[in-house]
Amino acid sequence: MISMACNIAGVSMKNPIIMASGTYGFGREYQEYVAPALLGGIVGKGLTLHPKDGNQGVRINETASGLLNSVGLENPGVVAFLKDELDEMTRWDTAVIANIGGANLEEYVQAVALITENAQKRRTMNRRGVDMLELNISCPNVKQGGMQFGVQTEMAREVVRQVRNVTTLPLVVKLSPNAENITEMAIMCEKEGADGVSLINTFSAMKIDIRRRRSVFENTYAGLSGPAIKPIALRMVHQVAQAVSIPVIGIGGISSVEDIIEFTMAGAAAIQIGTYNFVQLRAGAELVEGLEQWMQREKVNSLDEIRGII
Ligand SMILES: Cc1cc2nc3c(=O)[nH]c(=O)nc-3n(C[C@H](O)[C@H](O)[C@H](O)COP(=O)(O)O)c2cc1C
Repeated sequence: MISMACNIAGVSMKNPIIMASGTYGFGREYQEYVAPALLGGIVGKGLTLHPKDGNQGVRINETASGLLNSVGLENPGVVAFLKDELDEMTRWDTAVIANIGGANLEEYVQAVALITENAQKRRTMNRRGVDMLELNISCPNVKQGGMQFGVQTEMAREVVRQVRNVTTLPLVVKLSPNAENITEMAIMCEKEGADGVSLINTFSAMKIDIRRRRSVFENTYAGLSGPAIKPIALRMVHQVAQAVSIPVIGIGGISSVEDIIEFTMAGAAAIQIGTYNFVQLRAGAELVEGLEQWMQREKVNSLDEIRGII
């Protein structure tokens, strides 16, 4: 009997396939292509305390085997998310994960406190709230904050510590590949009470418009994602999974069942699909189906049999 079920930080998921933040809207946008209930979970678009317009100019640029983006955390803000999106999301039989960004420490703390309060209030009314938080300390596309926190372990420690103080919700910290030392960062998160880590966010990267003799992006740099980053993401997941005992969610260029198996063998408890959602709108459904077929074919009843075997 094959089971793809997994449990991440106390949240049960029917399979380990989660849609990555910023590539799946709030799920509604993909509903006509993939039934949300097929998925292990959906991470919503990165939220900030206040609404954000995002960056001016070019936001997306395709590279060899990858994608550069400079969206700059455009989002409706936490309050609008709780009011306009959460009811719909919590109707689906899939884990609802809120991704939180911030320009400074106070913004992170207030945003997380609001979502936590909301979840508690809904619980008293027997209604489901956000199931899990993913703390984005690693967005490279906002001038202030974000990335700043994701690079230095001691700066990140303060964010994780203060956020942990104001929430009882399962807390996963999303790590940046641009961190000075990603393993040290993950160990810090575990020590500060995070329930899991997810990695990686995008690599800081660049593209120059030689005709205009300037960067393609207003903020000069942009974030690189997609198959181009997969081998590095895999190496980082492998290193981090060996260093911590909390669950590690693998992210980075995953575009096939084989990629999911690689990340699982490297130690990932679950994985997220990002850029591949833009290539294949039915990515989630295709990969869930494909993973089950692979397990049947390979006579693997549970992914625990192959997790972290490398
Ligand atoms: C257009 C775009 C927007 C993104 N927005 C967010 C975001 O708001 N918050 C976040 O934590 N990560 C964001 N990411 C990063 C992805 O969630 C993911 O970590 C990264 O793209 C690597 O995975 P992939 O190679 O499968 O895309 C974004 C990525 C892309 C391509």
